[in-house]
Formats: sequence, structure tokens, C-alpha cells
Amino acid sequence: MLSGRRILLVIGGGVAAYKALDLIRRLKERGAAVRCVMTAGAQEFVTPLSAAALSQEKVFTDLFSLTDEADIGHIRLSRESDLVVVAPATADLMAKAASGLANDLASNILLATDKPVLMAPAMNPRMWAHPATRRNLATLAADGVLFVGPNAGSMAERGESGVGRMAEPLEIVAAVEAALAGGAKPPAPSVAWRDVIYQGAEAALAGGAKPPAPSVAWRDVIYQGAGPAPPPAPGRLPPQGPLAGMRVLVTSGPTHEPIDPVRYIANRSSGRQGHAIAAAAAQAGARVTLVSGPVNLPDPPGVRVVKVETAREMLQAVEAALPADAAVFTAAVADWRVAGAAGEKIKKTADGAPPALALVENPDILAAVSQMASGRPKLVVGFAAETEKVLEHAKAKLARKGCDWIVANDVSPESGVMGGERNTVHLVTAEGVEDWPTMNKDEVARRLVARIADALARAGAGA
Ligand code: CTP
Repeated sequence: MLSGRRILLVIGGGVAAYKALDLIRRLKERGAAVRCVMTAGAQEFVTPLSAAALSQEKVFTDLFSLTDEADIGHIRLSRESDLVVVAPATADLMAKAASGLANDLASNILLATDKPVLMAPAMNPRMWAHPATRRNLATLAADGVLFVGPNAGSMAERGESGVGRMAEPLEIVAAVEAALAGGAKPPAPSVAWRDVIYQGAEAALAGGAKPPAPSVAWRDVIYQGAGPAPPPAPGRLPPQGPLAGMRVLVTSGPTHEPIDPVRYIANRSSGRQGHAIAAAAAQAGARVTLVSGPVNLPDPPGVRVVKVETAREMLQAVEAALPADAAVFTAAVADWRVAGAAGEKIKKTADGAPPALALVENPDILAAVSQMASGRPKLVVGFAAETEKVLEHAKAKLARKGCDWIVANDVSPESGVMGGERNTVHLVTAEGVEDWPTMNKDEVARRLVARIADALARAGAGA
């Protein structure tokens, strides 16, 4: 439920703008207050009057409207919300937000907001696949912007299909709920910018601050005097980041093991840690396949997601996704499944006797990959979820499964890890144990990915 939550909905100028009207309705149904901002492009597709009627609020369209600025400025618009949702997020709006442009009300809000931002991109598949959009996506994701969709399907343009359709309104609602429940953070100013702001211009000048230097890439273009570079293959980020050119496989979430067609055995894993690792690896430039059990999370941007239900399906998907340079097994795989799950719903019997469920062991995916005779990833990382004797069990698991590292965490009920935001982990390797401070799951993911990049670089260098 979203009762009492305030959503600032920025409607961009695309055909999918009509779905934003349904989104307003769905958010309102769940008790949210929705205030809309429409770009000039959006008003070509839907009218501010429709958005106002559905949201029962004034709709804001103009940066320089004196009455609006006197009445409620763009800073207040975003401050008075819990979450800024951009739907549809057009290629143009994403580009503006990624570069910090602010020449209309929508882009001003995105630059000025101190609230988390969730974008639902929608555009033609070629625009979505273009390296410029990929770069903007990576920049926005690194700034902390959340994404839902786009989905694959047919486009408004006749005969075109591919990835670019805006997520459906109910998918966006689920992402809004997840963002608000997960305590998403606003895009934070980077340390460098904080320094400039805090020190002030005089201090910067006194300290002999240097003008911004052109990057190597730009210098090359300038010196070589070359014409435009050949366009990279559509849909690929030009290799950037410490994992550029590497393939990373991640498993995430729980598995569901059927008892009959309507019941299953599951566990409390939310998938947040595994999804965060996949997102961080993609941001570091890796080609990432995420094999995920059933979770209530949006797909991480720039990641190939393979959705499975059972442990056996997960093993198959993992095998199909290999080879990889590194594999991280974060999934809480069910250790057992029901032998001979019933084909029909199991009914209560007249004598009231409960059915006996015979369990059989599931394949151990981490052990299977760790012990592959050929094609084993250079680095195999397991997680150990323990409720007691955390390090002792983790060390035993490292040896038993044959993986390179174990990330051990305490999942006792009092730790709040299962389904929670924060994690306290220990990295167990052949060299010893590192205790990491308590961090949120995104930070754990970024730190682990940095360690993986470092280990792969050493392995590549033959160290
Ligand atoms: N794992 C796996 N396949 C399984 C069970 C576990 O790939 N069938 C992986 C998990 O993804 C995790 C690691 O093995 O990386 C340890 O999982 P955990 O549940 O802590 O350990 P188990 O092997 O199930 O051992 P136990 O239940 O005895 O603690």
C-alpha cells in the first residue's frame, strides 16, 4: 500500500505517455498522492487536463510560470514528494538527466531533487540500444537512479519490435513500492563536488585549482583529427570500468519447489543482495547474466536476466550461461524438493490425516560449478547464510564446495538480513577472514565487485 506516500510523476514526451494516465489511477487507488509535471512533448500526447482530472491536483508544465514559481517552485515540487517517478523516461529526458541539463521544468526537477528517482524508460529499440543511451543509463544508474523496464514487445511504430516498451503501470507500481520500502536514496553529490561546494571558490583559487582536463578519449579524437569514430555494435556499452570485457554470472533470490500445482516450498530470500551484485558488476563494465528465482524486484539495468523457479531449473540456466570469468552464487537455493510433486492439487482426506511429503536433495549448484573439470570460472564465490557459528560453518563450506571465496553472513532472525537492507559480512578466502563493517546491500555489492575485478586482473596478469 502507498497510503500517505507522495509521488511526483514526471511525464515525458512519448507515445507511452497515455500509460502514465493509468499509472496515476493505479497509484491513487493504493492511497498515494500524485502530483504531475508534464514536458512540452508529453502535452503532444496527453493533455494536462486529463492528468489533473485523474490526479485531482494541479499539473505543472512551465519552468517560468510566475504564478507557479511564486506559488510552488520546482525545488518545492520535488521536496514535497517521497519519490520522483519519470514515466515515460524518453531518451531525451534520460540524456538531459545524465548530463545535468536543466532547460525545462522536468529536467530542473531531476537536477534539483533530493529525493530518490525511479525511471521507466520508453523509446524505440534502436534508440534504447544506442551506445549514447547505454552510457546515459550507466551514468544514471551509477548516480543512484532506479529503473523499471523497458520490456520487449511490439512498438507503436508499425512492424517494429524489440526492447523499448515502457513497463506496464502495475510493474511501475511494484517498483515504486519496492523503492519506497527499500529506503532508496536520492542521487548523492559526489565527493569531488562536495569538496568544491564546501571549500568555496576562493579556497579553490587559492589552492591553485586546475581547469578540467580533456579525457584521454577526447584528446585522442582532437589530436588525431579523425572523423567520427565507427559506431560500436548497437546495444553494447563501449568497454568501460574495471570489469570491461569480463563475463560475470550471478544467482539470486530463493527457489520455489512445488508440492503440487498451487503450493511450494520457499524461503525468505528477497534477492536484494544478488540483484545488487549483478547491477554493480554491470556498472563495472561486465557482461552480466543474472539467474534469478522468483523475486519482487525490477531487473537491474544492463543485465541479462534469466528467470527460473526451481533449483533444477537454476542449475540448467547456470550451465547454459557459462563460460564466465567470475560466478557469484547468492541464491538461497532450496536444499530439498518434494519427491514426485503432485500433478493435481492435494485434497484434504476424510480422516483428516495430513499428507506425508517425502523430500529429496536438490543439486548443489555452487559445488557443481566449483568442481567443474573444464571451463570452471576463474573465480567462484559462494555465500554462506548461517544462523550460528558463522565463520566456522563458512570455512567448512569453502572447503566442502571447492569455491574460491565465501561471503559469510549471519541470517539469524535478530540480524534482520533476510529481506532487510543491511548486511554484515565476512569474506572468507584461503588467505584468511576479512570482517567488513555493516553496510547496505548495494555497498556490499560494490565492494565485492571491486574485489572481484582486482582478483581477475591479478589472475589475468598471471599473478
Ligand atoms: N547453493 C547452491 N545450490 C544449492 C545450495 C546452496 O548453489 N543447492 C549455494 C548458495 O547459493 C550459496 C552457498 O551454496 O552460495 C551456500 O548456501 P547455504 O544455503 O548457506 O549452504 P548449504 O549448502 O545449503 O548448506 P547448509 O544448508 O547445510 O548450511
